[in-house]
Amino acid sequence: MKIINARLRGDEQLFTLQIEAGKFSRISPQEGILFSDLESYDANGNLCSVPFVEPHIHLDAALTAGEPNWNISGTLFEGIERWAERKPLLTEEDVQTRALKTIELLVANGVQFIRTHVDVTDPNLVALKALVKIREQIKDKLHLQIVAFPQEGILSYPNGKGLMEQAIKEGADVIGGIPHFEFTREYGVESMRWVIELAQKTGKLVDVHCDEIDDGAARFLEVLATAALEAGIGERVTASHTTAMHSYNNAYCSKLFRLLKMSKINFVSCPTESMHLQGRFDGYPKVRGITRVKEMREAGLNVCLAEDSIQDPWYTLGNGKLLRVLDSAIHSCHMMGYNELENGLDLITNNGARTLQIEEQYGIEIGKPANFIILEGGNDLEVIQKQGEVLLSVKEGNVLLERKPAEILTGPVFG
Ligand code: FE2
Repeated sequence: MKIINARLRGDEQLFTLQIEAGKFSRISPQEGILFSDLESYDANGNLCSVPFVEPHIHLDAALTAGEPNWNISGTLFEGIERWAERKPLLTEEDVQTRALKTIELLVANGVQFIRTHVDVTDPNLVALKALVKIREQIKDKLHLQIVAFPQEGILSYPNGKGLMEQAIKEGADVIGGIPHFEFTREYGVESMRWVIELAQKTGKLVDVHCDEIDDGAARFLEVLATAALEAGIGERVTASHTTAMHSYNNAYCSKLFRLLKMSKINFVSCPTESMHLQGRFDGYPKVRGITRVKEMREAGLNVCLAEDSIQDPWYTLGNGKLLRVLDSAIHSCHMMGYNELENGLDLITNNGARTLQIEEQYGIEIGKPANFIILEGGNDLEVIQKQGEVLLSVKEGNVLLERKPAEILTGPVFG
């Protein structure tokens, strides 16, 4: 396979990329525009990028909005109530059907690497078992990581610890947590220490729903970061959401950032979901309820973006388009400075890959697996401006998706 007339991130030139045996075998700058032939894919000056990474999605709950009841208030807590009504209706087939449909949506929008949380506060672990099978079924096409996510708590749910341990035995890759939802602060602290100990014991990664609340007193992030630092496993640990940080006072946050940098943990922000769910206890002014993505980037912390939900009890919209999520973060986090836009795609590509610890499979370099997408636009800024479609998605040399650019058939022409 050969790609011609492609642009690479951070470079104005056109490139030819040769792929052999599923790997990049040659990447060379061109003298000028090459004429296309039957052997080559003509990128037409568009960007050849590493694939998108979806580092935080709930495949078990996806496409259940309104079943059996709609979330009328739109709040996170009503979402948990609606989900508690839907959960007893779960079957393996139901989870698999919806998960595969959602994965197709993500793939159609350039995603090749996914981390899904799966609710394991279920004595039968129905959804977890279903997703473990899906992971096996699609492994040649897509990288899927599964987080054992205790939606209703580890210490606050009957046999919560036992279910987490069982989920690991059944095949979960990542250990989750939800300290701000535990009954007491003490339970929250204990759960974070337990999660890190379990990660040390099992060698698994960690990804915690951490402080997903507007309560400025929710400070489990410092507990998680300290435990990760002391265990020396920070790069394998992720704090998702951390929306309480939006409400922390700046003096505390300044002190906290020192610890976060030392700990080397990763962060996932879900700006569309957080803007929708947070700020619900405010009059005006209302907090935006998004973690400090801009400041994290400036401090050199690893932060990436995720969609979190696709049409589930917490979020009725969602369509698998990470470019939409990025656009939302740019607006809500004041990140439209040119220097922030020119590498904006990092937030839905490289930073997510680092969070998932998949860097050996990731990167447009000779010898690495040929995993890439072609995006409408010649650089990060143009891609974000256009919010265009993914034209081609290739995984290890195999075409996952090819799409013709949309074309206006009739309409005004002014120049
Ligand atoms: Fe989540």
